[in-house]
Amino acid sequence: MSDKLIAPSLLAANFANLLPDIEMVNKSEADWFHLDVMDGVFVPNISFGMPVIKAIAKYATKPLDTHLMIVDPDRFIKTFADLGVHNLTVHYEACPHLHRTIQAIKSEGMSAGVALNPHTPISLLEDVINDIDVVCIMSVNPGFGGQTFIDRTFQKVKDLKDLIEKENANTKIEIDGGVTIKNAKSLIEAGADILVAGSFVFNSQNPFETVRKLKKETQL
Ligand code: DX5
Ligand code: ZN
Repeated sequence: MSDKLIAPSLLAANFANLLPDIEMVNKSEADWFHLDVMDGVFVPNISFGMPVIKAIAKYATKPLDTHLMIVDPDRFIKTFADLGVHNLTVHYEACPHLHRTIQAIKSEGMSAGVALNPHTPISLLEDVINDIDVVCIMSVNPGFGGQTFIDRTFQKVKDLKDLIEKENANTKIEIDGGVTIKNAKSLIEAGADILVAGSFVFNSQNPFETVRKLKKETQL
């Protein structure tokens, strides 16, 4: 099995009937569920929150990777742990005491992710990289699915890879936004470990097959 992971984002799933899409991910070669929580303050959109995640958790058979695009995420760390979230990602830009937030996530038994907006340089993570399990490089501005991939992401993956090696860290690199079959392989070659894909999976003719193809692209 490849150590490179595919995480379909349910943001692009059918909100009027989520169960078939959850079951598709369960049966597919996908590794994680990616769940995008937006508060309408940190990002200019509102998606879904705890009650929906609770419903998803009941049927999902794979780890829940929850991406919080909210201000002051510390308020809800325990709540997400209790919902069964495995990896909890907060935004660098939303956390004035990031080190404390990371420790709080881990003390609830979850792995800790930190997401960076496109304008936030990798170098800002220098002093905490050893504490972070997953760095999520935003390859679009967070808030919406279906946006165009920002090419500068490739440079950021390389910068992050260098930092991880320099600091001897175990951090995984996740890419979120505009991932398709066209950039999947080059992202993995650049050093990515986890690819999030929303619209490319769920807007395709055969999402199950699309996941299989994405997964195949990651086997270098
Ligand atoms: C964007 C979200 C992404 C989104 C990706 O704010 O964080 O996870 O679902 O969607 P696509 O793959 O359509 O760009
Ligand atoms: Zn996301």
